[in-house]
Amino acid sequence: MINVWLFMGPPGCGKGTQANLVKSKFKDTVHLSTGDLLRAEIKSNSDFGLRVKSYVEQGKLVPDDLILDIFSRAVSSYNNISSVILDGFPRTLPQAKSLAAQCLDSSLNLSGALWFNISSDVIVKRASTRRVCINCGEIYNIITKRPSVDGVCDKCSGSVVHRKDDMESIILDRLTTYAHDTEPLRNFYSSANQLFDIDAEKDSVFVHDQILTILKKM
Ligand code: AP5
Repeated sequence: MINVWLFMGPPGCGKGTQANLVKSKFKDTVHLSTGDLLRAEIKSNSDFGLRVKSYVEQGKLVPDDLILDIFSRAVSSYNNISSVILDGFPRTLPQAKSLAAQCLDSSLNLSGALWFNISSDVIVKRASTRRVCINCGEIYNIITKRPSVDGVCDKCSGSVVHRKDDMESIILDRLTTYAHDTEPLRNFYSSANQLFDIDAEKDSVFVHDQILTILKKM
């Protein structure tokens, strides 16, 4: 059985930061970010990347059929893993239902949805000051976590840049989309007794401790 841990919440709430920290603590655990998969496709100029580019850059949700396609391809490529952290998937009711169906038909076991709660003001500040490595995806912040050399990734020396969808006007659109399409999934997981709330406004260490406490009980 592969345990599936969902990291859910609004854009910029810290899902990616925490997924990277958590995967290093649990053996044979992988971090699957649909946002990272889409950005890799766009960077490689693949046909798929060209189809999703405008959605991602404008902060709009990529259509469900394309997301389910890239998700299924990624999951089926894993061998010998014990857990997978899903970061940014599911984001709509059809995606959540499809994941539930895949869990019934395969060795995936949905352990729970960890919901990162945070105010919109804090999100706008964090996302507008975020920088990411275009090569390895390492996440930085110009206030709280600068790379040692400005614009250069500490891990792989790749370029550290401001994501196009982190412009303030696009962040506000992403928050509206989140409220309309993704927040209703709280009820979906709550009614299945699979919802675990995280206070994501606290510092990274505190957030991490809350997550570890929940995951160790699952
Ligand atoms: P995606 O990349 O998934 O974007 P997101 O969910 O909007 O999340 P982010 O990557 O913006 O933020 P995060 O929560 O990982 O925060 P982070 O750790 O970086 O998706 C991008 C796009 O792809 C979507 O808009 C859509 O177009 C498409 N897409 C993806 N999945 C899809 C799906 N399932 N369906 C349809 N379309 C899809 O942290 C943010 C900043 O805060 C960083 O600078 C970090 O250093 C800092 N920070 C983190 N934690 C803390 C803390 N505790 N205290 C202080 N600062 C912190």
